[in-house]
Formats: sequence, C-alpha cells, structure tokens
Amino acid sequence: MIVGVNSVLVLVFCFVTIEMLQASQTGEIVFELATVDYEWKTEWEKQTLLFNGNYVVENNIITGIKVHKDDVFVTVPRWRQGVPSTLNVLVPRTGKSPVLRPFPSWEMNKIGDCDAFQYVQSMEVDPNTGYMWIIDIGKGSPLPSQKNCPPKLVVIEIATKKMIKSYTFPANVVSPVSNFMNDIMLDYVQGQARYAYITDTRDAKLYVYDVINNMSYFFVHETMKAQPLIPGLQDNLISAPIDGIAMSADFKFVYYTPLTTHKLYAVPTSILRNKSSEFGRHVINVGNKSGGSDGMVCGQRSIFYAGFEQNAVYKATVPKNDVVSMGTETLLVANNSSVVWVDTFGFNGTDLWFVANKLNYFNKHKMSFSGNVTNMFIWKINVDENSYLYRAIERTAKSMVPGLFG
Ligand SMILES: *[C@@H]1O[C@H](CO)[C@@H](O)[C@H](O)[C@H]1NC(C)=O
Ligand SMILES: *[C@@H]1O[C@H](CO)[C@@H](O)[C@H](O)[C@H]1NC(C)=O
Ligand SMILES: *[C@@H]1O[C@H](CO)[C@@H](O)[C@H](O)[C@H]1NC(C)=O
Ligand SMILES: *[C@@H]1O[C@H](CO)[C@@H](O)[C@H](O)[C@H]1NC(C)=O
Ligand SMILES: *[C@@H]1O[C@H](CO)[C@@H](O)[C@H](O)[C@H]1NC(C)=O
Ligand SMILES: *[C@@H]1O[C@H](CO)[C@@H](O)[C@H](O)[C@H]1NC(C)=O
Ligand SMILES: *[C@@H]1O[C@H](CO)[C@@H](O)[C@H](O)[C@H]1NC(C)=O
Repeated sequence: MIVGVNSVLVLVFCFVTIEMLQASQTGEIVFELATVDYEWKTEWEKQTLLFNGNYVVENNIITGIKVHKDDVFVTVPRWRQGVPSTLNVLVPRTGKSPVLRPFPSWEMNKIGDCDAFQYVQSMEVDPNTGYMWIIDIGKGSPLPSQKNCPPKLVVIEIATKKMIKSYTFPANVVSPVSNFMNDIMLDYVQGQARYAYITDTRDAKLYVYDVINNMSYFFVHETMKAQPLIPGLQDNLISAPIDGIAMSADFKFVYYTPLTTHKLYAVPTSILRNKSSEFGRHVINVGNKSGGSDGMVCGQRSIFYAGFEQNAVYKATVPKNDVVSMGTETLLVANNSSVVWVDTFGFNGTDLWFVANKLNYFNKHKMSFSGNVTNMFIWKINVDENSYLYRAIERTAKSMVPGLFG
C-alpha cells in the first residue's frame, strides 16, 4: 500500500537525501587546532609569556572568523587571562594546524593601550571595499587591576592595514563596564555601508551605528533577553541574550536570536535605521529553528545557522522582500566530533566558512588541551550562493532610507 501510494514521496525523499549528501560532501575541514598558538618572534618570547601568565594556552579559543581573498581572520576573545592577541590572521603550516599572526600587528593587540584592540569577539569583512569592521569590547583582561578601555568600532582597510575609522561609543549607548558586543552586520543604502548593527550578549541590546551621521543608538526588547538554557548543553553558561545576527541580502530584514533559545526573530531595517522607531511594534516572531545557535549569516538566498543539539548546520530559504519561513529549513552538515558548537560564519565567494569550537566544553573547563585532541575545526562548504554583501554597491545604488528621502 505504502509503496503504491507514496512512490512519488519516496522519489522526493531520495532526491532530498542525495542533495543533502552532495552538500555535505562538498564540505571540507580546512584547519584543525588542538590549541591556539601564535607566530612568535622567538621561542624565548613564547616561553616568557607562558611563564609570566600572559599566554595561558587553555584560555585561548577561536570564535570569530572572516575570510578575505587568501586570508582567514580569526578572533580569540579575552574572556580569561593570558590571550596574547585578540584579532589575528591564520598562517598555514604543513598539516592542518596553523598559527595565529596578530592583525594588523602585535602593537594593535596590546592590552592596556586603548588605541589598540582589547577584546574582539567578532568582525565583518565587506568584500566590496576590502574593509574590516571590528568591534572592540574594551576590556583587555578579566583581572580587576587591568584598566578598561572604552568600547569602539574600528574599520581597517585589509590590503594596506590602514585605519579608516575609529569610533568610540558613548557610555550612554554602550556601557564600558558591562558591554559584550558580540556580532556585527552591515546594512547598505544607496551604494554604501551606511549602518552597522551590533548585538550585545550581556546587556541584551541591539546597537546601531550610523556611518554618515557618525552616531550610535540602541534598541532593547523582551525578545533580546536570555531565555532558559538548553538543558545538558548549556548548563554552565550564564545569562546569554541576543547573540546571532544576520542581514538579508535585500537589506530589508535583520534576523536575531538569543543564544539560549530556538526562536528566531526579525525586524525590518527601516525600523533600525530610524532612531525613534517603536521597535517592539515591528518585531517579527519568525519561528523555531531546530536547535540552539550562536552566529548566523545570510547568503543571497538562505540563512545559515547552527543546531547545537544536533551538532549541525542548517539553512533556510530567505525570500526577497519577505522573512524566512522555517518550514524551508534543511540540514547542511552534521558531525558529532567536528561540528560541535558552530560559533561564527564567514563567506568567501560561494564558500561558507565556519568555526566549530566546542565552546560548551571550554566554558565548563572540560576541554582537553593536552595537544592530542582537536578542539577547533574550521570548515568550508561550497553553498552555491554568495554572501549577503555580494555586489551590494550596485544592488543598492538606488535604495533609500525610508522616510528620509520621500
Ligand atoms: C577565497 O576565494 C578565492 C577565489 O576563489 C581564492 O583565490 C582564495 O584562495 C580563497 N581564500 C581562501 C582562504 O581559501
Ligand atoms: C565621530 O564621533 C566620535 C564620537 O563622538 C568622535 O570622537 C569622532 O571625532 C567623530 N568622527 C568624525 C569623523 O566626525
Ligand atoms: C516554538 O516553540 C515553542 C515552544 O518552545 C512553541 O510554544 C511555539 O508554538 C513554537 N512556534 C512555532 C511557530 O512553531
Ligand atoms: C566526522 O568528523 C570526523 C573528524 O573530521 C571524521 O573523522 C569523521 O569521518 C566524520 N564522520 C562522518 C560520519 O562524516
Ligand atoms: C550524533 O549522535 C547522536 C546520539 O548518539 C545520534 O543520534 C546522531 O545521529 C549522531 N549524529 C551524526 C551526524 O552522526
Ligand atoms: C598525548 O600524547 C602524548 C604522546 O603523544 C602522550 O604521552 C599523552 O599521554 C597523551 N595525553 C592524553 C591526555 O591522551
Ligand atoms: C521614525 O519613527 C518615528 C516613530 O515611529 C516616526 O514618527 C518618524 O516619522 C520616523 N522617521 C522617519 C524619518 O521615518
């Protein structure tokens, strides 16, 4: 009976399965790291830092990733003591285990120098301009004796390492004491990166930086707050509000999700672009993802995010001028050893890159740093679509800020 009636369904099922298999077969683990090691000037320097506690191997873990041309940029957050450099570029070695070279320099990663990067969780790279947009939380060290620097947004031209912009957030927008600026996305209007949207995973805020007016403001809402932890998986995580953020390729909607929930929310960019918006009236409850997720990103047709519980990456279709329907969710890749806690995504052409870093184990001090266990996996998968920023200059040449230009 089932065979007769459902032969079409069986066919469809086979098709889907084959498609999924092909998708995961194009995936590749590019780098594997047991520990985070740096490109030291001398072995003596490394030994000195190890000895004086300024390099504590088990406190270094890769979270953020962005790829530009031949370079893979990664961040090492300064959550704990002993992180020598927070923003870095990978230097490949023989095998799959690279070392980290501070970017743009060691000097620009110096703790206590407020002109330098103190604590970078994430950044965005705009392929249209070759600019990197970097958010610096401002705390160089968890030690109370270490001074805090004000939180800032820095734009660097990757090719020349030239600083294009450095914007210090006013304390009444981003708290220098409690902020945890986590992730950043860019919004294009009339052919230029006009707004940056930034999540704060401690103060539960969504910041907007208006590039032209050189000013910032923020929104808060119930949907940004931490929700109950996913049992078993996130047991030792503390309050984890709004974290992942993704911009649709048509620059119409911003997606966000607190770390500790399956719920995905969206808000129109027309609301975010207006400081006086009534945010709450325009929040869209998109639906439930299959799992918990950290970073997210949109391509030209899809949104990509993790499923913590499934050790997987999923994608769902983002239609033009509308929000994603969660019914379109499909599995991209899953693996119980190498896709554990997918933290952050980046694009290079049609390759989707991501870091899986077992953060839930790190957080519980249950990660093995013996050197025998791979703790961080850096993947790339050809997803057959470009990033949301692809050709953004041309695509938005005629776009306008609603309300401002009639
Ligand atoms: C990014 O893509 C370009 C073009 O395909 C390629 O030349 C470059 O090597 C890629 N970057 C990395 C880090 O693989
Ligand atoms: C932008 O604003 C910041 C903070 O208010 C200020 O320090 C900076 O000088 C401004 N930059 C420009 C180009 O006006
Ligand atoms: C999402 O999940 C919650 C339970 O966590 C449920 O109450 C809600 O109906 C779900 N929403 C959708 C759109 O399925
Ligand atoms: C999962 O990833 C590990 C580590 O790369 C690999 O050895 C293993 O073959 C993968 N398992 C599956 C089912 O693909
Ligand atoms: C991961 O392990 C769970 C529990 O053993 C299993 O149900 C699931 O199929 C595994 N996932 C993969 C991708 O192998
Ligand atoms: C790691 O490997 C070394 C030798 O390669 C071995 O002596 C050591 O016991 C291993 N440690 C763990 C925790 O497996
Ligand atoms: C911004 O939002 C406020 C409140 O909804 C509205 O009154 C105002 O017209 C909007 N401004 C623009 C430029 O759209």
